[in-house]
Amino acid sequence: MSGMTTDIELVNKDGIRIDGRTAEEMRPLRIEAGVLNNADGSAYLEWGKNKVLCAVYGPRECHPRHMQNPTKAIVQCKYNMLSFSVSDRKRPGPDRRSIEISKIISEALEYVIFTENYPRASIDVYIEVLQANAGTRCAGLTAASVALADAGIPMKDLVPAVAIGKADGHIVLDLNKEEDNFGNADLPIAMIPRTGEVLLMQMDGHMTMEEFNTALEYGKKACEKVYEIQKDALKRKYSIQSEDTEEPE
Ligand code: CDP
Repeated sequence: MSGMTTDIELVNKDGIRIDGRTAEEMRPLRIEAGVLNNADGSAYLEWGKNKVLCAVYGPRECHPRHMQNPTKAIVQCKYNMLSFSVSDRKRPGPDRRSIEISKIISEALEYVIFTENYPRASIDVYIEVLQANAGTRCAGLTAASVALADAGIPMKDLVPAVAIGKADGHIVLDLNKEEDNFGNADLPIAMIPRTGEVLLMQMDGHMTMEEFNTALEYGKKACEKVYEIQKDALKRKYSIQSEDTEEPE
């Protein structure tokens, strides 16, 4: 979110955005659970032009040992953008942004995982962004909770996330790259639909109180949709698996 002024028209006079969406329309979202054989749990997600792969390991003994918590497991997320995921080659390795995103995703996941079941353990979540087009922290978190469920790690609930923003003065759901770059605000949120608990909320830019309330309303409805797609991914994975294991007649 640069808040840069440009001549680009992000929302036209009919309220249509540059990718043809209306204000409250989400980009297409597809999630597949259990895509990696050698991780304990995994998920692959495509959300608009974003492509994200997530792998989960654990609960496993936490190393180095001084990081162990004798009362519960720690959740360590590593969010990483691959060099070819963005238009300017990204320098490999962690930077301030990826360290921040890893931290907020770890905290959101720690809230839902029953960490007290696994003292001294670590639950490791690797998020690899293969292709980025705005909203990757939400895409990463959305994929991560599906991968955790796929790993069989007990959780209170799945964690759907989505970004809402402001472009050309309009509140719009699920910002794309142009809206993120040239828009007026970006508000990523993660919310458990069942309880309304907010596990992640960040704000870049400015919104009035009224705009913020509209954004939250859009976000809440979108999280409900994302949640259904997450559940569907898990159902698909496990219904296929149970068909495979059924005895032939
Ligand atoms: O991805 P998200 O919206 O959660 O985070 P952001 O920091 O608001 O980044 C917005 C977008 O900028 C990313 O999704 C990428 O498409 C792009 N970006 C980039 O092109 N190069 C970077 N080094 C970082 C981000």
